[in-house]
Amino acid sequence: MSKIANRDKEGILVIDFGSQYVQLIARRIRENKVHSTVVPPTISIDRIREINPYGIILSGGPSSVYDRSAPSFDPRVLELGLPILGICYGMQLLGRLAGGNILKSGKREYGRTEVKFDRRNPLFRGISPASVTWMSHRDKVDGLPDGFRAIGKSDNTKCAAFMNYKKNIYGVQFHPEVVHTVNGKKILKNFLFGICGCKRTWTMKSFIQKKIDDITDQVGSQDVILGLSGGVDSTVSAVLLHRALGKKLHCIFVNNGLLRKGEVDRVKKLFTRNIKLDLRVAESEDLFLKALKGVTDPEKKRKIIGRTFIKVFDDKARSIKNASFLAQGTLYPDVIESQTFFGGPSKTIKSHHNVGGLPKKMGLKLVEPLRDLFKDEVREVGRELGLADEMVDRQPFPGPGLAVRIVGEITRERLNMLREADWIIVDVAKRSGIYRKTWQTFGVLLPVKSVGVMGDDRTYENTIAIRSVTSVDGMTADWAKVPYHVLGEMSNKIINQVEGVNRVVFDVSSKPPSTIEWE
Ligand code: XMP
Repeated sequence: MSKIANRDKEGILVIDFGSQYVQLIARRIRENKVHSTVVPPTISIDRIREINPYGIILSGGPSSVYDRSAPSFDPRVLELGLPILGICYGMQLLGRLAGGNILKSGKREYGRTEVKFDRRNPLFRGISPASVTWMSHRDKVDGLPDGFRAIGKSDNTKCAAFMNYKKNIYGVQFHPEVVHTVNGKKILKNFLFGICGCKRTWTMKSFIQKKIDDITDQVGSQDVILGLSGGVDSTVSAVLLHRALGKKLHCIFVNNGLLRKGEVDRVKKLFTRNIKLDLRVAESEDLFLKALKGVTDPEKKRKIIGRTFIKVFDDKARSIKNASFLAQGTLYPDVIESQTFFGGPSKTIKSHHNVGGLPKKMGLKLVEPLRDLFKDEVREVGRELGLADEMVDRQPFPGPGLAVRIVGEITRERLNMLREADWIIVDVAKRSGIYRKTWQTFGVLLPVKSVGVMGDDRTYENTIAIRSVTSVDGMTADWAKVPYHVLGEMSNKIINQVEGVNRVVFDVSSKPPSTIEWE
C-alpha cells in the first residue's frame, strides 16, 4: 500500500471512540500550537491521506474491544507509516488489531495510579521515573502483540504502556490529557514534537490569514448574508468575513425587543461607525411583542420567537440581491457533537432558538468561518482582529433573549423592569470580578409579587432572581459562590433603583437537575 504523499502536513487527527475527554485531547494539542481535528472511526483511509496529518491519536471510549458493537477503524491505517498513540480504549484496540491479548478484567482501575516508566523511549523522554497518572478502564493489555514491548507498569498491570518501535506505534492505558496525570502534558509534547515532528504553526494570526483565503475561494464574487446577534461568535464571524469580502458582506440584525439594555445601539455603533459594514437592522419589536401577547407557556414562547425570527430575517434578506451564501457562527464543539460516533438525538429539554432552518428556506449555501475553533480560540481571533476585550469576553446570551428570563407573560413593562435589574447585576458582577469568573451572571423576573415596606408605605411588588453559574460548556453547571457583599450590593441597587421590584433572591440550583435559564 502506498504511504502518505509528501505534501504539506497538517496537524494531528484524533479518532473519537466516544471518550468524554476527546475535546480535551484536541485542546491539549492546540495549546502546543499544533492543529487538531476530531474525526469519527468511520473516516476512510483516502480521507486520512488527503488530510495528511503528522500523526494520529486514538481516544479512549466506553466500549470493550470484545463488545459486538465495539467501534474500530480501518486497520490499514496502521500501515500508513504515521506515528500513532492509542489512549486507554485506543491502546486496547491497537493491541487487539496487532494480535495481542486483551484481558477482560472484572476489576476496574479508576483514578490516581502510579506508573513506573521506561524512559529509554521517545514518549517518556525527560519525565520522572514514576509518577501519578489518571486511569479509568476495566480491560487491559495482557499479552503483548508481536513487535511490541511494555514501557510502563503499575501495581495492577505489567503493561500500562507499550510501543512498537519499528512501526512508531504507542499506547498508554492512562489519560495523558487530564490534569491529574502529572507528566501528561510532557508526554503529549513528546508525541507531537519528538515522535511526529509537528511544527508550531497553528496560531490565530495564521488561522485568520488562511480563513480569509478559504472564504475568498469558497465565495468567489458572490454576496453573503450574515445574521448578527451581537454575541461573540457572530461578531467575530462578521469582522472576519468583512476582511475577506468587504462590501459583499451584508449583515442583518433583528431587534426583537427582547435584548439587553443598550444592545441595539452598541451593535449599531460597532458595525456602522467602527467597522463600517453593510448593516441592516430589522426593527421588529412590535411584531414580536404582539406575537407573544398573553403567552405564558415556555415552549410556546420559544416556538413563536423562532418562527417570527425566521420570517423577519427572510423578509429583510429579500432586499439583498445576488446573495448565494448564508454565514453562520458555528463552532467546533457543535461540529464534533453532530458527528460523534455514539451521538444519538438527545431528548429536547428546551427547543433552542437557532437559525438552522434558514439556509434551506432561503436556498442559500453555508459559510461557517469559525467551525474549526473552540470558544476561547474565537475570542483570541476576535482580539487579533482588533475587537475590544469587553466585546470578546461577553458571556453567552440566549437567542430568545430576555423572553426566557421572564417567567410568565412578556410585556413591554416587564421587559423594561428586567432590563434595568439585569444591567445592575452585570455592572456589579463586572466591577467585582464575578463576571469573568462565571459562565453567566444575569437576572430573572419572577411572576411572584410579595409584600414589602418602603418608607412608611406598604408595597406589593415583583421579585428578581439573581442567577450566576460556573460551567465549561453550558451542558452542566454549578451555582456560583458569589460573595455575600456582592449579592448585597446587587440587591440594594435593584430594590432602590428599579421601579416595581421590592425583593431579590439568589438561585442556588445546579444543572442538572435545574437548567441555567429559567424557561
Ligand atoms: P439551559 O437553560 O438549557 O441553557 O441550561 C444552556 C445554555 O444555552 C443557552 N441557551 C440558549 N442559547 N438559544 C441559544 O442560542 C436558545 O434558545 C437558548 N436557550 C438557552 C443558555 O443561555 C445557556 O448558556
